[in-house]
Amino acid sequence: MTTAPEKIEAPKGGVKISESLIATLPGSAYVDEAVFRAEQERIFEQMWFCAVRSADLEGPGTFKTVQVGRESVIVSRNRKGEIRAFFNICRHRGVKLCMEDSGKAERSFQCPYHAWTYDLDGKLIAAPNLTKMPDIDRQEYGLVKVHIREYLGYVWLCLAEEPPSFEDEVMGAIETRLGDVHRIDGYDVANLSLGRRITYDVKANWKLIIENFMECYHCATIHPELTEVLPEFADGLAAQYFVGHGAEFGDEVKGFTIDGSEGLDVIPGVAEDQDRRYYAITIKPTVFINLVPDHVIIHRMFPMAADRTIVECDWLYLPHVVESGKDLDASVELFNRVNLQDFDACERTQPGMASRIYANGGVLVPSEHHIGEFHDWVASMVGDVIPTN
Ligand code: FES
Ligand code: FE
Repeated sequence: MTTAPEKIEAPKGGVKISESLIATLPGSAYVDEAVFRAEQERIFEQMWFCAVRSADLEGPGTFKTVQVGRESVIVSRNRKGEIRAFFNICRHRGVKLCMEDSGKAERSFQCPYHAWTYDLDGKLIAAPNLTKMPDIDRQEYGLVKVHIREYLGYVWLCLAEEPPSFEDEVMGAIETRLGDVHRIDGYDVANLSLGRRITYDVKANWKLIIENFMECYHCATIHPELTEVLPEFADGLAAQYFVGHGAEFGDEVKGFTIDGSEGLDVIPGVAEDQDRRYYAITIKPTVFINLVPDHVIIHRMFPMAADRTIVECDWLYLPHVVESGKDLDASVELFNRVNLQDFDACERTQPGMASRIYANGGVLVPSEHHIGEFHDWVASMVGDVIPTN
């Protein structure tokens, strides 16, 4: 059983959530522009943010642009194939350098305004008529680098000048959920292949999506297919409620599929006690990982506005399974259905957040202390700007 969360005080005035374990954040936390801006500044632009799947960057010069908080970031590979990330801002007059979501730069990034040119390591290598300009330090006026870590086959970015410990923040979240960070190693996530990717444009605040992912109170109501496969979810206790707990497949269930039929080849490193189980991990602020014996599902959220979040969801399988062209539909459809059911619920919740009826928030049932902990964390980060009545 989880223990009651420690009480965390909001930094400067504002709301305090922990007076009662059942109080939620007030509705304004999900709609107020100043709150969202504070979250961009203090959360998304400060913490480790899972941005791009490394394998999506196929070779030198391939790039993707991603939105991290208020900033656009270019993630690319240099000539040696090493991953680099830069603020997507020309150092001359601040033009957005790459307008595309993805592409391939042949040898360099060239600004569309006055043609300043940067190599794939971000160094300024050419500027027309620069000889007529005062001496300019080409290193100093290179693209500004963003901190990167590669983990689980994804590029994680941190825009903070001094990044927090990746081990504490990201690996620590896995450790907390699985009981030991190495319990994820057997799934060999970095070496799996992308079987399917679905992008959802959700008209809801990112925190509603996290809270929904952390709760299972709704499972019996809105997830009939999932509760068939994982009968214990019908009782409403989330897998995230217990440290190290994986929800067990039902007796008749052959695999984690829409109809409980046979799944794909099991990942060989999955331990015996992890077989026929489902694990769910939340890594704040924007990542969910689901582990089942034959695949791994990774959700990355991109909060775009207080009431809009893009969620990119990847289904990862053993490489030979993807190469074989086997039909993945029954496998993918189970969690796609769960996503659609969840996001529909979040979109139905979002308008209510602006209602005066929800001005003081709502309640959590006692089994959802862990969502209360999430609210405490939000309050500790941005509680001072959450409007109260
Ligand atoms: Fe990019 Fe002038 S703004 S070269
Ligand atoms: Fe759900």
